[in-house]
Amino acid sequence: MARIDHFRDRRFPILAIGFLFILLVAGLLISVASERAIRDQMAREAGAQADLLASAVSGALAFGDRADAQDYVDAVQVNPNVLAAAIYDEQNRLVASFARAGQEIPAVARPRTHATIFSEGRLIVVRPVEQAGQHLGTARLRLTDDPPMQRFMRYASLILVLALGALAVVILAVAQTALMRANRELAAQAQALRDEIHDREKAEEALRQSQKMEAIGRLTGGIAHDFNNLLMVASSGIELLEHATDPERRRKLGDGVRQAVERGAALTSQLLAFSRQAPMKSAVLDLRGQVEGLRFMLERSLRDDIALVIDFAEDLWPVEADAGELELALLNLAINARDAMPEGGTFTLTARNLSAPAGAPGGQDAVRLEIADTGVGIPEATLSRVFEPFFTTKDVGRGTGLGLSQVYGFARSSGGHVAVRSRPGAGTVFTITLPRTHKALAEAPAPAPAPAAGSPDRDPAAAVRRVLLVEDDDGVADSVGEMLERLGFEHVRTETAPAALALFEADPAFDLVVSDMVMPGGMDGLTLARTLRDRAEALPILLTTGYSAAAAAAGSEFPLLLKPYRLEDLDQALRTLAEGRAA
Ligand SMILES: Nc1ncnc2c1ncn2[C@@H]1O[C@H](COP(=O)(O)OP(=O)(O)OP(=O)(O)O)[C@@H](O)[C@H]1O
Ligand SMILES: [Mg+2]
Repeated sequence: MARIDHFRDRRFPILAIGFLFILLVAGLLISVASERAIRDQMAREAGAQADLLASAVSGALAFGDRADAQDYVDAVQVNPNVLAAAIYDEQNRLVASFARAGQEIPAVARPRTHATIFSEGRLIVVRPVEQAGQHLGTARLRLTDDPPMQRFMRYASLILVLALGALAVVILAVAQTALMRANRELAAQAQALRDEIHDREKAEEALRQSQKMEAIGRLTGGIAHDFNNLLMVASSGIELLEHATDPERRRKLGDGVRQAVERGAALTSQLLAFSRQAPMKSAVLDLRGQVEGLRFMLERSLRDDIALVIDFAEDLWPVEADAGELELALLNLAINARDAMPEGGTFTLTARNLSAPAGAPGGQDAVRLEIADTGVGIPEATLSRVFEPFFTTKDVGRGTGLGLSQVYGFARSSGGHVAVRSRPGAGTVFTITLPRTHKALAEAPAPAPAPAAGSPDRDPAAAVRRVLLVEDDDGVADSVGEMLERLGFEHVRTETAPAALALFEADPAFDLVVSDMVMPGGMDGLTLARTLRDRAEALPILLTTGYSAAAAAAGSEFPLLLKPYRLEDLDQALRTLAEGRAA
């Protein structure tokens, strides 16, 4: 666009000058041609008049009758263009003549009998006087060429047309220049606008992220409490396990500990997923699945004295929205509900399909989400203001007033809308309506293959294999070592990657390597794995980590097991590794 404008910018003045030049040349050619035509016409007329005079005076010359010749010459005066006239005899002596005031008798330097001469704005015509084939003398006329005024008048119209043409070209050129300048200004403004939109999008992105962080901040109390509970269950369970002898009781205690650990893992993974910095991206969502996945976080954002009820229709239509924004909106609503129910109550999430009313033009199927609490409610006077950014009734430091404006923004950017109804003392209901989408749900990731049936314990008679275990945490190393032994492996542990390398140099007879990723010692697990692969290409290596960033760094280069993992998971990972090697 800018390139074309630039090209036009330079092309137009050249065109305008070219056009003016053509106009000038055309005008010149026209005037030269018409000038020539007029002169030819004048010469013809003057020639005819001189011929007439010559034939009229032939008798008078033949008889030497000067008076008669003078009469004929005088008669020519009636033509105002004739300035002077003369008759000469054969010896070129003047016989008769007339000249207007200030004019000379027409003479020719060299006696000629037939001539038409334009000279200094005058036309001189010479014609022979003859009778019966005998040359008697010459008749000469001098006429005015066109007077300058007459000539000017003749060309005035042409000059006018040329001037108008030139004026039109000049006006066009000026207008075009102005238009181009305006265009350039417009393009600059459009660019500035684009830049501004870009900046605003960045600011919105940052705001969304900070809103999420704020929501998490508000959850920390609940989460810390939750973790303490989980740790409590786990530590007391382990303690009790040490003393229990009854197998049934030991199994129950073990289950309790495992469940606590699983809940802790779920909690951290949800927190990490929620806080991840992902750009807004709408996708086809199954609301039931989404909210089910968020249940744990919702429970954390409410208090123990608030019951959470989720009532979603089985056959909910899919909608199109950003999953992260949906989660944040529901969390904001849950936190608001918690604050509105200081004495406890019920927080209910309901979702139903809403068919477009038959025959209604532009009607659209939708899914309606209702988020209800049994809290203090919102007074009539402030009900219309709750979606306003920064509107809050909470104390400084307790609320920014951005929660509901995020909910509003989420509903609008998903093509839907949000409404609220409330009565003081009777609770509040928010309604989010999202249009149904006919796009297909994205394929859910395939579930991990189920662990092999039966106990993961290996047949003790199976070939014992050696594992190099690299793990800096003693507790983890002990428990993983225990698991490996149960799975029929022998293991040697090192605490750091350099130590593992040294060990491998001295004794490379290992069947596989299980290594942590983030470790002290100046070398991480990924670098260790790459170095080992260079030395022994066929050596199977399994990496393990509890850090999502480390997991992302490993990509798909090496098989990866996320901490915390269970015996079954380790068994499955080692089997897959062994199959990979066998393949
Ligand atoms: N469920 C509810 N019951 C009663 N009042 C509510 C409820 N939800 C919101 N409000 C009122 O609307 C106001 C605005 O809510 P919003 O979520 O936008 O901001 P906030 O909760 O005050 O602050 P933030 O969410 O940014 O921490 C609240 O201050 C509160 O007065
Ligand atoms: Mg809020």
